Amino acid sequence: MEAQVISQETIATDEEERLSSAAPFAKELITLDHVHKVYRMGDMEIHALRGVSLHIRPGEFIAIMGASGSGKSTMMNILGCLDKPTRGQYFLEGQDVSKLSKDELADIRNRKIGFVFQGFNLLARTSAIENVELPLLYLGAKHSERVKRATESLELVGLGQRLHNMPNQLSGGQQQRVAIARALVNRPSIILADEPTGNLDSRTSIEVMDVFQYLNQERGITVALVTHEPDIAQYAKRVVVFKDGKIKRDYMVDDPRSAREELESLPPVDIDEDEDEQ
Ligand SMILES: Nc1ncnc2c1ncn2[C@@H]1O[C@H](COP(=O)(O)OP(=O)(O)OP(=O)(O)O)[C@@H](O)[C@H]1O
Ligand SMILES: [Mg+2]
Repeated sequence: MEAQVISQETIATDEEERLSSAAPFAKELITLDHVHKVYRMGDMEIHALRGVSLHIRPGEFIAIMGASGSGKSTMMNILGCLDKPTRGQYFLEGQDVSKLSKDELADIRNRKIGFVFQGFNLLARTSAIENVELPLLYLGAKHSERVKRATESLELVGLGQRLHNMPNQLSGGQQQRVAIARALVNRPSIILADEPTGNLDSRTSIEVMDVFQYLNQERGITVALVTHEPDIAQYAKRVVVFKDGKIKRDYMVDDPRSAREELESLPPVDIDEDEDEQ
């Protein structure tokens, strides 16, 4: 039985061991090594991850799939330093982050991780540019620097003409692009997205995937996203499938779909043009 909570102290290794075990993974962006996650709810233990080992190299684009409850979000939360493994190790850019304190994790999260959520999570009554500036505020960046970098991020996702729109003045796809700009603004090592197209119609989903493909292919940004939709997974370069807290399949996509080409073949619509009068 593995439904046992093992404290972090029990598994802590000393510095020497940490370095020697980190060395083989030095070129990897992310290494999960036999990661378990056990949630405790009263007397119940839920074994959400059961020994997940995963290696992600810089520049990859990974889609994470699997049935509801299979552990996808649990793993994303660990990758994003929102939560810690119960057992096993997590190396981010060679650093063992599995045993860091909450404050240290928060610091790494602010500097190295960009998050995109299904529900966008933008602040209402706050302009696009101010939403995108937020992570920089936490990092203590000056106002002029924040404006410069937030503008650059919004331009990267094609929203250079929408800096001062409020979320309710933007389409769903545009709101998600603001969220992607916000995830980008601290120049993270990886962008993690949990069902980023879950609330979007199919055309808008392709637009959002176009942004992710552009960032990955043209800007070299590493992307890992969770999706329930096999069609969406085909825009990634690699697919990892979860089942019952374990990785069941891990394969390269033969010929990934191109969102750009598909958008070009669709009839034009008028809701998403930056040339619009505001
Ligand atoms: N904070 C928590 N406390 C207790 N149990 C949790 C918690 N978060 C997740 N779980 C449980 O862990 C298991 C894995 O959940 P997880 O959210 O990772 O699944 P998922 O693959 O993301 O599912 P979905 O596709 O529905 O989003 C489930 O059994 C879930 O009920
Ligand atoms: Mg989930």
